[in-house]
Amino acid sequence: MIHDIVLIHGDGIGREVIASTVEIIEATGVKINWDVSEMGEDAIISCNNPLPEELIKKIKDKKIAIKGPTTTPIGEGFSSVNVAIRKKLDLYANIRPIKSFEGVKALYEDIDLVIVRENTEGLYSGIEHMVGDDAAEAIKIITRKASERICRHAFELARFQNRKKVTLVHKANIMKLTDGLFLRCGREIAKEYTDINFEDVIIDAMCMKLVQNPQTFDVIVAPNLYGDILSDLAAGLIGGLGFAPGANIGDEIAVFEPVHGTAPDIKGKNIANPTSAILSGVMMLRYIGENDSANRIENALKRTLKDNSCKTCDLGGNLTTKEYTELIIKNLV
Ligand code: NAI
Repeated sequence: MIHDIVLIHGDGIGREVIASTVEIIEATGVKINWDVSEMGEDAIISCNNPLPEELIKKIKDKKIAIKGPTTTPIGEGFSSVNVAIRKKLDLYANIRPIKSFEGVKALYEDIDLVIVRENTEGLYSGIEHMVGDDAAEAIKIITRKASERICRHAFELARFQNRKKVTLVHKANIMKLTDGLFLRCGREIAKEYTDINFEDVIIDAMCMKLVQNPQTFDVIVAPNLYGDILSDLAAGLIGGLGFAPGANIGDEIAVFEPVHGTAPDIKGKNIANPTSAILSGVMMLRYIGENDSANRIENALKRTLKDNSCKTCDLGGNLTTKEYTELIIKNLV
């Protein structure tokens, strides 16, 4: 079978890590027609729009895309195209697995959890305005529909992956209406899944618990902003942003992308760690049913990382992105 997949390199290190991912996926022999498309800075240059309508149409048509990170100007300029693409395609579940790899020196080497982040509302609704010159307001939106579907997604994922516990993160002691609704929805959905344990933890306490005892967590479900922050925190526990893959899932469409950003400080130097992008590719292969190729890549990664001389710069090694990619391909069996 030949799969039709939209491929977006993105900005900064996106080009490097996505090229590595494509090379490795192709080395497994899986057949994919890549529809190479532009989003972010490339799309601004070619059509003066970082998220062309044509791209949205293509993804709706092909249903699957893989993308590199794209730049969002800080404190000014255009709004995030990442937030926009998730909303336009209703990719409501952002799945971010955090798993230790043997051979990767990190704060912890025995973590295996998944963060399920609500991807379409919360404080990312993008509704902000100035109140006079010296005050600004942002609107946080929490709806029953989005809260129920993300909590249900977390429980279904727990069941599918044979996981034992879902932890819902909130700040309902202070945001009694918004986070209060999210928590109430989670508690109601939990009653349908008596085979899975459920707990809720306030976000500030959660940060401490995640740093001190990350092994006690299994599936974490959170509103948009908390999920975003927790996933970078959790990536820091297993070796950094080079090891955090992600998937944006809707009812019919899925867009896979690493958790990290464009890393402008190392752009174009051929030193980025492509593992997050490669693992996002592995998630994509599983999603399209190419489990054999997915397993082969994951095993090749494990073999490569076990060897102490096979490390990229972020792990204190001296392999370039290209050399690391070639080693993984060599380790494919
Ligand atoms: P970042 O994730 O790009 O970088 C943070 C730090 O981690 C930097 O020191 C960087 O060198 C390092 N890093 C990140 N990925 C790495 C990798 N694969 N290998 C080795 N080191 C890596 O976050 P930052 O600097 O806050 O954001 C830069 C830009 O990326 C911004 O425009 C931001 O909006 C955008 N961004 C885009 C995302 C997306 O497209 N999904 C997600 C996060 C940020």
